[in-house]
Amino acid sequence: MRLLFLGDVVGRSGRTAVNTQLPGLISKHGFDFVVVNGENAAGGFGITEEILRDLLAAGADCVTTGNHVWDQREALTFADRNDRFLRPINYPTGTPGRGANVYTAKNGARVLVLNVMGLLFMRALDDPFQAVSRELSACAIGNGCDAIVIDFHAEASSEKQTMGYFVDGRASLVIGTHTHVPTADWKILAGGTAYMTDVGMCGDYDSVIGMEKDEPLRRSTTKIPSGRLEPGGGQAALSGLAVEIDDQSGLARRVAPLRIGPGLPPAEPDFGS
Ligand SMILES: [Fe+2]
Ligand SMILES: [Fe+2]
Repeated sequence: MRLLFLGDVVGRSGRTAVNTQLPGLISKHGFDFVVVNGENAAGGFGITEEILRDLLAAGADCVTTGNHVWDQREALTFADRNDRFLRPINYPTGTPGRGANVYTAKNGARVLVLNVMGLLFMRALDDPFQAVSRELSACAIGNGCDAIVIDFHAEASSEKQTMGYFVDGRASLVIGTHTHVPTADWKILAGGTAYMTDVGMCGDYDSVIGMEKDEPLRRSTTKIPSGRLEPGGGQAALSGLAVEIDDQSGLARRVAPLRIGPGLPPAEPDFGS
């Protein structure tokens, strides 16, 4: 199975890049399953149902989120009725929506996608390691699903690396989101879990983590907020990770970054036909 994970989609330029390029990438590379993090898709803050539908129509099988999940209040409503939309699983009991779900990939494999948020330099939520542990006990590779993708939405690289080792051999992929800057450490851990500390964003890289530069510069130098943070309007680059997963073991065989567009060194997976 071939899987593609695309990082946080930021604003209109990010959406345009994903919606126009994803269908072609799916057919070119034969991706069986696509996960997109959409937490910044609506003007940098949250996601609307219409934007969610567009990402699904472009080929996403599941849209994950993070700390910005509720920035657009309508997400509180559609989170419950759209089972392809995930919010971090470690929100308090009773939070709308779901943090994990099993989907059927194009090749027939059952893929568990888990969205979970870190605690370091983030809002205090339930323990992410316990939450992941609970889910993996309830649905394991070979016993309930054929592959497992964990979107670990977290600030600290240390916490993300720790999660990678925590589930090594039990998940197909642990991928970091939230920092919007891709790291250069994509790899397969000793137990067979693909890992990357942060997948980066799908957005305008001539920016401060996707947002137009002027206001961040003013805020940092004067300490006075003087305007709204707006997404960068320049052409967006896509940043993602492709993983080839063994059909029998559900573990990673090959892993390669995908970077297309201005501001990032170009990279496309070459897994052959
Ligand atoms: Fe984000
Ligand atoms: Fe985030």
